[in-house]
Amino acid sequence: MTTPQFNPFTPEFQADPYPGYRQLREADPMHWSQLMQLWVLTRYEDVEFVLRDQRFSANRRSSTNPIVQAVAGRQDSDLPFANATTMLGADPPEHTRLRGLVSKAFTPRSVEAMRPRIQQIVDELLESAEAGQPFDLIEQVAYPLPVIVIAEMLGVAAERRADFKRWSDDLVATLSIQTADGDVAERARDSGLQMADYFRGVIAERREQPEDDLLSRLIAAEDRGEVLSEDELLATCMLLLAAGNETTTNLIGNGMLALLRQPDQLAKLQADPALLNSAVEEMLRYDGPVQATARVATEDMEVGGSTVEKGQILFALLAAANHDPAVFDDPESFDITRDDNRHLAFGHGLHFCLGAPVARLEAQVAFRALLERFPNVRLATDAPPWNGNFILRGLTKLPLTL
Ligand code: HEM
Repeated sequence: MTTPQFNPFTPEFQADPYPGYRQLREADPMHWSQLMQLWVLTRYEDVEFVLRDQRFSANRRSSTNPIVQAVAGRQDSDLPFANATTMLGADPPEHTRLRGLVSKAFTPRSVEAMRPRIQQIVDELLESAEAGQPFDLIEQVAYPLPVIVIAEMLGVAAERRADFKRWSDDLVATLSIQTADGDVAERARDSGLQMADYFRGVIAERREQPEDDLLSRLIAAEDRGEVLSEDELLATCMLLLAAGNETTTNLIGNGMLALLRQPDQLAKLQADPALLNSAVEEMLRYDGPVQATARVATEDMEVGGSTVEKGQILFALLAAANHDPAVFDDPESFDITRDDNRHLAFGHGLHFCLGAPVARLEAQVAFRALLERFPNVRLATDAPPWNGNFILRGLTKLPLTL
C-alpha cells in the first residue's frame, strides 16, 4: 500500500476532509509532508501532547520551515502586528501577561452577563426572516452576530462591520499556508494598515474619554506603562476582532449543515431543547471551524514514535483528532447526545480558546431562536459552497428554506 499524502488543496478534500484524515491516521499518523515541509499529526493522543507540552512553542516565526521563513521575509516592518507579538503566537512569560490583560472579560461569568444582549441581537437579525422568503444563514445571522458582539465588547462601532469583515478576512487568509502568496500578502498588508489606522483613531478618542469597555481597560493598562506597549495594544485589538469572527460564523454554518443533513438529530433536538448545549459541542467536534493549529519544536525529540528536529513545525489537525476512534465511539456519526465529548475544537492547554464561552453562548442562543421560530427549516441546496480555506473551514453561503 502506498502511503497517503496530505493534500488539502483538492476540491474533494475541501468538500469532505474526513476520509483523508482517517487514511492518514490509520496509515501514517506522524506524516512528514514534503509539500509543506512539516509534520502532520492526526492522532488525538499526539495532538493533545503537542498542545500541552511546553517544549513546543506557539511562536511560529521561530521555525526553520522554508514557507514560514519566506512569508516572514516579506512582512513589512511598518505593520504594527508584524513586530508585536499577540498571545496566540507567544510563549510564557509574554503569553501570561498578554492573556492576563483580557482574560477577565472572557470568564464564563462575565460572558453569561452578555446573554440578554446576544438574545436581542439574534432577535433583531431574525426579524426580517420570514417563512417563504429566501434566507442565507451565513449572511443574515452567522456572519453579523459575532462581529456585532465583539465590536460591542471592545467598544468599537458595529456599523463599521463591513470594514471589519474585509480586514479580518484579508488577515486570516494569510493563515492558509498555500494562499500566502504575493497578492494575498499585499491585501493583508493594506487591510492591516487600515485596521491599525482605525484603531489608532479610536484609541486616541478613548484616551480622552474612557468608557466602560474592553478597549478603555486595555488603554488604562498601557497608560500605567508597565504592561502593554502601543503596538501590543493594537495587535491585541486586531486579534480579538479577527479571531472570533470567521470562527463563530463557521460554527453556526457548519453546525446547521450537520444538523440539517441528519434529520433524525434535528428531530431529537426539536423534541428536547435541553440537548442544545451538547448539540453545540457535537457540532464543534464533528466539523469544527478551526481544523488545525501549529507548534514549533524547541529541541530534538520523539513524538508519536517519530524523531522531530528542533525548529520543525508540527501541524496539529484538531479536526482529525476529534474523529479518532481511540477516543470517540463511532466518530464519523453526528450524535447530539454524545457525552464525555472531550473534543479539541478550541485547542488545549495554555492557548485554549479565550473566546470559547462567547462562541458557545452565541451558537446556543442562535440555534435556539432559529429552531423555535422555524420548526420546518430545511436546506435549500444539497451542496452549499465551501470557502476553500482548509484551516478555517466554513461555508460562504447556506441557503435555507424556512
Ligand atoms: C467557534 C468559534 C471558535 C473556535 C472554534 C476557536 C478556536 C480556537 C483555537 C483552536 C484556539 C487555539 C489556537 C492554538 O492553540 O494555536 C483559539 C485561540 C484563541 N481564540 Fe478562539 N475560537 C473561536 C472563537 C473565538 C472568539 C469568539 C474569540 C474572541 C472573542 C476568540 C479568541 C481567541 C483568542 C484571543 C485566542 C488565543 C488564545 C491564546 O493564545 O492564549 N476565539 N481559538
